[in-house]
Amino acid sequence: MLVIEDLKVRLGGKEILKHIDLVIEPGETHILFGPNGSGKTSLLMTIMGYPQYEVVCGKIFFKDKDITDMSINERAELGIGMSYQRPPSIQGLKTRQMVHLCGRNGVDVDSLASRMNFTDFLDRDINVGFSGGEIKRSELLQLMAQDPDLLLFDEPESGVDLENIALIGNTINQLLERDVKGTADKSKKEIMKLRTKMGLIITHTGFILDYVTADKGQVLFDGILACRSNPNAIFKQIKEEGYEECVRCAS
Ligand SMILES: Nc1ncnc2c1ncn2[C@@H]1O[C@H](COP(=O)(O)OP(=O)(O)OP(=O)(O)O)[C@@H](O)[C@H]1O
Ligand SMILES: [Mg+2]
Repeated sequence: MLVIEDLKVRLGGKEILKHIDLVIEPGETHILFGPNGSGKTSLLMTIMGYPQYEVVCGKIFFKDKDITDMSINERAELGIGMSYQRPPSIQGLKTRQMVHLCGRNGVDVDSLASRMNFTDFLDRDINVGFSGGEIKRSELLQLMAQDPDLLLFDEPESGVDLENIALIGNTINQLLERDVKGTADKSKKEIMKLRTKMGLIITHTGFILDYVTADKGQVLFDGILACRSNPNAIFKQIKEEGYEECVRCAS
């Protein structure tokens, strides 16, 4: 379980997150909406532990441990993984090596890459010259190798063409155990018990909602999580009225 309590975060001297309370239960997936610059990426980077995101107050707990002061490595070891909005390109580091580094012992890089239709990219330098959509697939491949328990996705579908969106959506479902087979006759409660993975997905386009049946939606606005509701209902409201109205309706 992820628990964030009264989190306030500063970046480059500017207060980005003012007051964040968030709980993600085992098996739950949340969708995070919010306008450009509202701090969505900052929230994910803070959960992942990037030191430039200065936690001014508040706590982050994961699996009953206080991770607020843990390094990125320790958080990854504990089971947190992230697909980045704009990951760096690294000359001299092959995608194959990177996926191998992300993976647990004995990860079969070739077979994972083949599932992602990504075999041709394994021997290229990671992200160097990759198109926007290729970068997103490369990110998911690394997450598949890591197989974390809490998955943070920062705009996983942005720049991805319509055919590959299905691939991205289905891969996210697999990573989050949301496509558990043989559960057609089970109730939502029973299915929830079979899942342990937790997800937090940032989206602007909402395409991901066609594939991932998320449990909750949140709107980050002016440094706080201003609305919590059904993700499809929130997305409809944002499309019709804009973010500000959506948040006003909640308050
Ligand atoms: N080093 C910095 N110093 C000051 N402000 C910064 C710094 N880095 C980022 N910011 C600002 O922090 C704010 C939040 O950025 P963040 O990337 O978290 O937004 P976002 O919600 O993910 O936006 P988008 O939807 O465009 O991805 C932005 O206004 C950004 O300009
Ligand atoms: Mg962002």
